[in-house]
Amino acid sequence: MHVKMVVGRYAPDRKLDGELGAPYPPPYADKPRKTYQTFEIDLHDEAMVLDGLIHIREHVDESLVVRCSCRCAICGSCAMWINGHAKLACTTKMKDVIENGAVRVEAPPSMMPVRDLVWDMGPFMEKMRSVKPWLEGKPVSPDEEYRVPNEAMDELVQEVSCISCGACLMDCESYAVNDKFLGPHALARAYRYANDPRDSMQQERLKEYSDPNGVWDCTHCYECVHVCPKGVAPLEQILKIRQMSVAAGYTNNAGTRHALAFAESVRDSGRLNELTLMPKSLGLFNIKAQLQSLPSAFNLLRAGKLPPIIHHKIPGVTRVKAIFKKVGGPLT
Ligand code: SF4
Ligand code: SF4
Ligand code: FES
Repeated sequence: MHVKMVVGRYAPDRKLDGELGAPYPPPYADKPRKTYQTFEIDLHDEAMVLDGLIHIREHVDESLVVRCSCRCAICGSCAMWINGHAKLACTTKMKDVIENGAVRVEAPPSMMPVRDLVWDMGPFMEKMRSVKPWLEGKPVSPDEEYRVPNEAMDELVQEVSCISCGACLMDCESYAVNDKFLGPHALARAYRYANDPRDSMQQERLKEYSDPNGVWDCTHCYECVHVCPKGVAPLEQILKIRQMSVAAGYTNNAGTRHALAFAESVRDSGRLNELTLMPKSLGLFNIKAQLQSLPSAFNLLRAGKLPPIIHHKIPGVTRVKAIFKKVGGPLT
């Protein structure tokens, strides 16, 4: 198989021949741009993308820097952008990703570049550490052991498959605009500990994960579910933390208010009242946040995007209310 590999290279101390890439977005906007170099190579038909990169490093340009170890989706070190989406290079077949005769590989722009395809895992690991990924055991008498029911552990095995590759964070839409967001991998890990029956810190954890930059900052883009190579489905774990936090009474936050205001509007009128959604989400008595939102409101007004002042109910809204009643819960 003859392949054209376009490799995004980052080497600030060297002048590389090739096509200059776009500027890095914040917070790495001060970094020099990467350079795209094209390598034409021959590989066997079942070769993986990582095989192509190793071939380049061993036979064409030994200065190419690529991180890898296990070559079988265990160590998590070879996650990178392949044609603009996060994947493991060691398990992605080259023939499956060739587009118009070429494959484009690079470190994602949302991660701090180190060298060529290597990005800094420090911030990723720091997020993981910040959710306290360890058990604070409940006290048991010294001559006893804590027995965990099998069913309780069944619920946690999905997250345990995580290999800390970073693919989910690379493609997370919320992280792309807010680097303080805890991120899918850390929040999936957070669920694993918050729901462990041996842990004594569940309440503190739920409160902390509901704070700004936590579970309520996820925008449900589903990218983390789509790109995770191990089926961890971080979004599903995030939604479970949300449910646990609301059930535990941690509702004084913009995320919970937003969800409630959204549902109330649909229940009462059959459609979303966008005019009241923002003020209710911010908290009606949160004067500071309300004032801070005024520039956005003026921008919407100027662009002719302000929702109608008078919000109309849809015909037959009683049927919507009946659905709410049937489902049950706090909004019936
Ligand atoms: S679903 Fe949420 S956590 Fe997952 S990638 Fe999208 S914004 Fe990020
Ligand atoms: S959740 Fe999936 S994509 Fe995210 S770090 Fe773990 S294995 Fe990688
Ligand atoms: S080299 Fe280990 S996961 Fe790809």
